[in-house]
Amino acid sequence: MQDFQSILNNILKKAKQQTVKGKVADYIPELSGIDPDKFGIAVLDSERNICSTGDAKEQFSIQSITKVLALSMAMSHVGEALWKRVGVEPSGDPFNHLSLLEMENGIPRNPLINAGAIVVCDILVSRLENPKSEFLKYVQDIANDPTITYDKKVAKSEKRTGYRNYAAANLIKSFGNLENDVETVLDFYFYSCSLRMCCEQLVKVFYIFMNRGKCLRNNTHLTLTQVKRINAIMLTCGFYDEAGEFAFEVGLPGKSGVGGGIVALLPNKFCVATWAPGLNDKGNSKLGMWALEKLTTETGLSIF
Ligand code: DON
Repeated sequence: MQDFQSILNNILKKAKQQTVKGKVADYIPELSGIDPDKFGIAVLDSERNICSTGDAKEQFSIQSITKVLALSMAMSHVGEALWKRVGVEPSGDPFNHLSLLEMENGIPRNPLINAGAIVVCDILVSRLENPKSEFLKYVQDIANDPTITYDKKVAKSEKRTGYRNYAAANLIKSFGNLENDVETVLDFYFYSCSLRMCCEQLVKVFYIFMNRGKCLRNNTHLTLTQVKRINAIMLTCGFYDEAGEFAFEVGLPGKSGVGGGIVALLPNKFCVATWAPGLNDKGNSKLGMWALEKLTTETGLSIF
């Protein structure tokens, strides 16, 4: 196996020299105070070796990365029926855009834009008796880590300023694609986005997508077809209107969040997570994308 540790150390050294770091998200007030100089990176390989450097053990708000986990849980509950309510095409639009939703009758383009994730949350709210605690338990189980938790302050902060998500949920509801009331679905959505993890925890959770649906304890959480679909959606939709650029530069399925995290994977080989809070103008971590480009270019490991 590749010597990831020395590559990561090298990336950290170069990352510290970068001067253009992007801008920390402030539309969720609770996230605005995060130190833009944080930088962490962790890799978990197929032999279950984990290596990391920088701030890889410090937790942050995973935000949109949670959408992949909600999708995965919803798929295990409703299977292919999910695709009647949400599409699988990249939107080419920012994560919080509403125009396509109106034109396409309340069926979101894909489950990784906000509108699609809201529909996925609605499915979970319908299926689960206690959505917040069952979803948290699902994520803790996959990671084999009971310390993963929600950050209630972040969830509440987003709820107070989540005007665009309220607009999206109301629009979806008006088209009849939301079974539950807007408030209940968004409350669950904001909580799911507020999950806190560090890079080392993120690679452990996303190990199931790299390891054909099986977690580190070898329990099966997803079928091969479901893993194929989720990885395909991460590749084509995981970075919104920058999905093409991420495939072009990095060449891996992955997902970003406005907390500055990115997680990506090469099936059967490795899973990598980065955290650098400064975002580019598409809402993706600037140094995270830069670091992942370095990693796949230096190792020659990408799906292409
Ligand atoms: O709904 C929102 O706007 C946030 N909770 C999540 C957005 C996000 O992370 C976009 N990703 N880069």
